[in-house]
Amino acid sequence: MDNSGPAWSQVDLIREAFHYQSRFEGSTMVFKIDYPVIEDPGFPYLMKDLALLARTGFRVVIVPGAKEWIDAVLREYGIVSRYSGSTRITTAAALPFVEMAAFHVATRVMTGLAAGSSGGSMGPTGSLNRVDAVIGNFVRAQGLGVENGLDMEHTGAVERILTGSIGRMLELGVVPILPCIGWSPAGKPYNVSSDEIALAASTALGAIKLFIVTLESGFRAPSAYKLPETIQTGENGRIIRLTPQEAEEVLEMNLWDSGGNKPLDELRLALRASRAGVERVHIIDAKEEGAVLRELFSNLGAGTMVYTDDYEAIRPLKNRDIPDILRLMEPLMQQDVLLRRDPEDIREKKDDYAVFEIDGSVHACAALHDWGEGQGEIAAVATDPAYADMGLGRRIVRCLMDRAKKQGLRRVFVLTTRTQDWFELLGFKECPLDSLPKRKQEHYDRERKSKAYALELG
Ligand SMILES: CC(C)(COP(=O)(O)OP(=O)(O)OC[C@H]1O[C@@H](n2cnc3c(N)ncnc32)[C@H](O)[C@@H]1OP(=O)(O)O)[C@@H](O)C(=O)NCCC(=O)NCCS
Repeated sequence: MDNSGPAWSQVDLIREAFHYQSRFEGSTMVFKIDYPVIEDPGFPYLMKDLALLARTGFRVVIVPGAKEWIDAVLREYGIVSRYSGSTRITTAAALPFVEMAAFHVATRVMTGLAAGSSGGSMGPTGSLNRVDAVIGNFVRAQGLGVENGLDMEHTGAVERILTGSIGRMLELGVVPILPCIGWSPAGKPYNVSSDEIALAASTALGAIKLFIVTLESGFRAPSAYKLPETIQTGENGRIIRLTPQEAEEVLEMNLWDSGGNKPLDELRLALRASRAGVERVHIIDAKEEGAVLRELFSNLGAGTMVYTDDYEAIRPLKNRDIPDILRLMEPLMQQDVLLRRDPEDIREKKDDYAVFEIDGSVHACAALHDWGEGQGEIAAVATDPAYADMGLGRRIVRCLMDRAKKQGLRRVFVLTTRTQDWFELLGFKECPLDSLPKRKQEHYDRERKSKAYALELG
């Protein structure tokens, strides 16, 4: 079976997409879209992707930010805003212009979702490119009142999200759009931050994901920020994922920035949502076409994810994983990097194996075989090439070294023909073959001429 070519990667991609489709179908996802995204040439494509998601069974809720457009409209009409900290005070005179601007932006989103042929494509997916949407009064708000002696007038906060009304829309397959206006029970309008609406809507609707869609490259190229060493980055230094603890560390390490820095503000919002129970918050750069779909349908994603659930784990091998690990090992067995094993060999030693699972699929494996005399062999180490250099190999081997210690072994060794340098990075040192357990020496394949490397477990 040759599974190394481009066709194979395409098949892998399709598998991954189906995996996520079946996993998330019927789930609610909230998209907070920054205003500048709406002005970007990529916006019609983003809307197409969201319409496609809504049409294929995802419950999509959109919260468009309007800050920059409100600023522009107020400037145009000569209205000077006062601020309390970074919060604009919406006066009675400014309110009609704020409402006009907020609804204008919401309408742009609505138009994007209605435009079946936007972006120039009327191809076979044309009818999937549009979806019904509604701009609604789904936010119950209350006024901020007087803060530090300043009357905040028509500036409000979310009191609650009207989940019943939104739920009914979602049941009908309609996309609710929540502009940055909320109403008191008596019907008085307030200007409310769209970040706060997105946060409240995500938690109130039990959204499994909040997407923060922005034009900032931010944590895709995080060289401007101090980062803890443990954080793993992908292509171009992009931070792929963070636990809430790691996100907190990043914010603490960059305290010099006391607000107004977009990527850090977004991370703050992501952390708050994550702490409030949203399992996954994704910060996405809308400049990359298809970034939302890539983030959703592949576990390497395209943005930065703050996650709280058991997204990744090293765990013992189960029978159902055997085809997956054989798929990882097959090209390496063909190249003679790994010894050939068949399903029966693996099943026999099933308890020796560990797998690295990310989001429900296996991306690395390794085994620890106990050969007696206090020595264990680390073998069958294989990482999915799409996940190379992300620490999976190191972490699974370290996990097996911990397992070896717990089993009372004093030494682990490895027989390798080509990967000695990598094991040296982990602290292994070349050792004579006659230092291996007698039973292993009897099984040693002299034709392969593998070298032995060992690590004493302190
Ligand atoms: C070796 C292997 C397990 C590494 O997996 P991985 O998850 O990509 O590795 P990690 O992310 O933990 O480590 C990456 C580091 O090791 C280095 N590295 C990867 N493969 C290497 C190799 N064959 N030799 C030397 N260094 C290597 C990378 O350059 C990277 O270095 P950096 O941290 O300085 O950037 C993987 O490449 C693999 O499956 N190889 C084929 C199977 C094999 O050789 N198994 C071992 C025999 S039992």
